[in-house]
Amino acid sequence: MASQVLVAANRGPLSYALDAAGTLSARRGGGGLVSGLSAALAEQPGALWICAALSDADREAVRRGVAEPGVRMLDIDPEVYDAAYNGIANSVLWFLHHHLYDVPREPVFDAEFRRRWQAYVTYNEAFAAALAQEAAEGAAVLIQDYHLALAPGMLRELRPDLRIGHFTHTPWASSEFLDMLPDDIRSQLVWGMLGADRLGFHTWEWAFNFTSGANFDNLSGIAQSYSPTGTPERGVWHRRAADTKTGLGERRFTEVNPYPLGVDGDELRALAHRPEVDDKLAALRAEVGGLKTIVRVDRTELSKNILRGLLAYRELLTVHPEWRGRVVHLASAYPSRQDLSVYREYTESVRELAAAINAEFGNGDWQPVLVSVEDDFARSLAAYRLADVALVNPVRDGMNLVAKEIPVVSEAGCVLVLSTGAGAYQELRADALTVNPYDVTATAEALHAALSMPAAERADRTKRLAVAATALPPAQWLTSQLNALRT
Ligand code: G6P
Repeated sequence: MASQVLVAANRGPLSYALDAAGTLSARRGGGGLVSGLSAALAEQPGALWICAALSDADREAVRRGVAEPGVRMLDIDPEVYDAAYNGIANSVLWFLHHHLYDVPREPVFDAEFRRRWQAYVTYNEAFAAALAQEAAEGAAVLIQDYHLALAPGMLRELRPDLRIGHFTHTPWASSEFLDMLPDDIRSQLVWGMLGADRLGFHTWEWAFNFTSGANFDNLSGIAQSYSPTGTPERGVWHRRAADTKTGLGERRFTEVNPYPLGVDGDELRALAHRPEVDDKLAALRAEVGGLKTIVRVDRTELSKNILRGLLAYRELLTVHPEWRGRVVHLASAYPSRQDLSVYREYTESVRELAAAINAEFGNGDWQPVLVSVEDDFARSLAAYRLADVALVNPVRDGMNLVAKEIPVVSEAGCVLVLSTGAGAYQELRADALTVNPYDVTATAEALHAALSMPAAERADRTKRLAVAATALPPAQWLTSQLNALRT
């Protein structure tokens, strides 16, 4: 049956594992996008989530037809998938939007890049085709993230009757970075996005980067125009000149708005008080032995700035030796994107630096850093409950839900040390200790101030942070976008 509400995202709500006996088991997918969307979609009866098969086990699940109701996995050719996901989405678009390039060496846009871009086009076409096939007349479609930047434009050509939204979970690149792309590729990217009726970003800053920095005037085939009434509007008037014989294509308006995703406080607190988490908390308490804790939880992700966080902790122990033997840094970095060598090397550097800090300051009674490089959500929730200080210092981040989750779950109140580069900074800065993510010394001082903060102030700030963090929970985040799409 055709669906009235459809979501498309690279990652689905679950992924499969295949054991030696050939038995498939399903588990929850990872990352902020999945946690937000899974909860929200549960409240939309009949909704369909279209995602890619990410692994051989997922492909096997597609072949056996075991997908869960409400989920359609696309079995995209593994080579095409690898080139689109690893080669373009995670190595080019992610790097542009997070400003991660080491510019003397990268990016290099050569023939190999063109080959991969073609795969990215094919991958987006597969999603557009599946959406066109599954959507009811006039249905609302919400396409997610940088993996699927071309799909809105492709889908509009296939099904002009649909209401198409696109939400970006990352930052949007500043024009200095976006302009690194070859002109024709940048044009395709922006054209793809402008195929949507509405574009959503986590913050005004990312929305502004899109509308102001995309250089619509310079893009071949896209001409920016202005509101007929001359009034400024939240979005972009545009037309694709190449579309018509007269050279004047259809003039369309794409609205651009921020929808700052928050967390569902009740659900998160319930999850954090399951017996499994209580057990992990008891184990962590035994490990930490009553010392103060600085907690961080991230994917092993370059943009999360884990190395400078460790350097700041080292500087704290050097400049404020009174904390030696009185604090433990719990750093959980669960594996991510390990197909990319730069991510494997980064993960290794995190382990090495943590080991060096332990060797420099540790003794038989005290291990300064406890690093956990595994996917253990229950342990992370236990660490949230225990945290005295939360360190969230990404160089650049679309939102960062960990910054919102920790204050909600924290038991005794927790001081949030928060980077100005996180999208969450916009909503949480008043009650966080904010830091320039590159300034290791300032981060060390913020950690010192956080550890020294009186309990009453800490508790007050945490309460206000929790209120701000739950302002737009996932279900409301989704319905407000769907309602806007239907108007
Ligand atoms: C970010 C992206 C998501 C992605 C998640 C995990 O939050 O915005 O789209 O799912 O990272 O990354 P992965 O590559 O493992 O899906």
